[in-house]
Amino acid sequence: MAPDITTNKAPYERLRAVIQEKKDLQNPLIEILRIAQEIFGYLPMEVQEFISNEMNIPVSKIYGVVTFYNFFTMKPRGKHTLNVCLGTACYVKGAARIVSLLEEILGIKMGETTPDRLFTLSAVRCVGACSLAPVFVIGEDTFGRLESKQQIADIIKKYQQAN
Ligand code: FES
Repeated sequence: MAPDITTNKAPYERLRAVIQEKKDLQNPLIEILRIAQEIFGYLPMEVQEFISNEMNIPVSKIYGVVTFYNFFTMKPRGKHTLNVCLGTACYVKGAARIVSLLEEILGIKMGETTPDRLFTLSAVRCVGACSLAPVFVIGEDTFGRLESKQQIADIIKKYQQAN
């Protein structure tokens, strides 16, 4: 759900302070959007409209920037981004099957976030652990030599239990 300014004022106050601090920089919009995404985790329309009002620039311009750069997202992200390596070595060793298994276990498609907001499933290029292929990465942790559904489900379970 999008952050509601009437019930959740603190992040908007933080963002207002950031805008005040940065707005006189040359081309401040990208930097302000970057920090807004750090604060909210994503950039829903409510946040874009807030920035539009505070900076007195059309929301269409903000929307254009958000949708142009792929490091900005309008969808909520999970607490953990689960990056499946789709580099050549991992692909040859069955990364596509790993993606299918993860989609099945998490009940979401690539690019989506679980309803409990714990995981976002994403893909990356070679993460430099080719000898462990196929590989996925959660935060700082790399998991390799992935084979069975059970092995992957056990990894997921550890994160679910730690939450
Ligand atoms: S291709 Fe996956 S770690 Fe290198």
